[in-house]
Amino acid sequence: MRKKIVAGNWKMHKNAEETEDLLNDLIDKLPNDVEAQIIVAPTFVNLASAVDHLEFTNIAVAAQNMHQTEAGAFTGEISADMLKSIGVNTVIIGHSERRAYFNETDAILANKVSTALKHDMVVIFCFGEELKDRQDNQHFNVVENQLRDGLFHIENKDWELIVLAYEPVWAIGTGETASPEQAQEMHEFIRETVRKRYGNTIAEDVSILYGGSVKPENAGEIFSKPDVDGGLIGGAALKAEDFSKIVSAI
Ligand code: 13P
Repeated sequence: MRKKIVAGNWKMHKNAEETEDLLNDLIDKLPNDVEAQIIVAPTFVNLASAVDHLEFTNIAVAAQNMHQTEAGAFTGEISADMLKSIGVNTVIIGHSERRAYFNETDAILANKVSTALKHDMVVIFCFGEELKDRQDNQHFNVVENQLRDGLFHIENKDWELIVLAYEPVWAIGTGETASPEQAQEMHEFIRETVRKRYGNTIAEDVSILYGGSVKPENAGEIFSKPDVDGGLIGGAALKAEDFSKIVSAI
């Protein structure tokens, strides 16, 4: 049975003090009785304190990125080993902002995935089409290619560490959400694409999250779709009340 997951991607928000405040607020407000796995992804500099802070809770901590190389002369970068050494076992790879603003190609992402898996890290693998792709009716092709080129080199056994996150670029931070039907249509396609390549068990067991302007008002309807197993939340993850409502909607 696949897991329900709600993850908050804090992007480049919250300094050290604000991170502690938000974590305290989340500990207060998040429901205790949900079956979903809850994940937060603060910035690199606040990961260690987040791990400490959340030690006795059911909230896991993820990094928003990592470098594909084990170690070396890569000024400003962070390795998988460094993340693991502070207790971070989950990493977001392939976010559209990394692809667009930091030139992360499918080939680089494929390497990052391999490195993370080598370190037994859970990978939240993000992908999704741009507005133009959808207008040109290319969205299924784009998503299929992103999966094939960034992820489908992994082995069957690796899938227990993989979470998929479909994030249509046109819905990120825009207030425009994919309709529940659009999300379901794409998630079904994604599961089918995984099924063709890796078989039924892996396809049925992998959690596929939706991301892109998920808010307390629309979360329930999106999460009610059969192939939507949770969400990757940006803006609304920065307010404990909103994030808690989204978690409760699962
Ligand atoms: P928003 O929820 O702000 O649209 O961001 C989604 C996202 O990019 C999560 O990774």
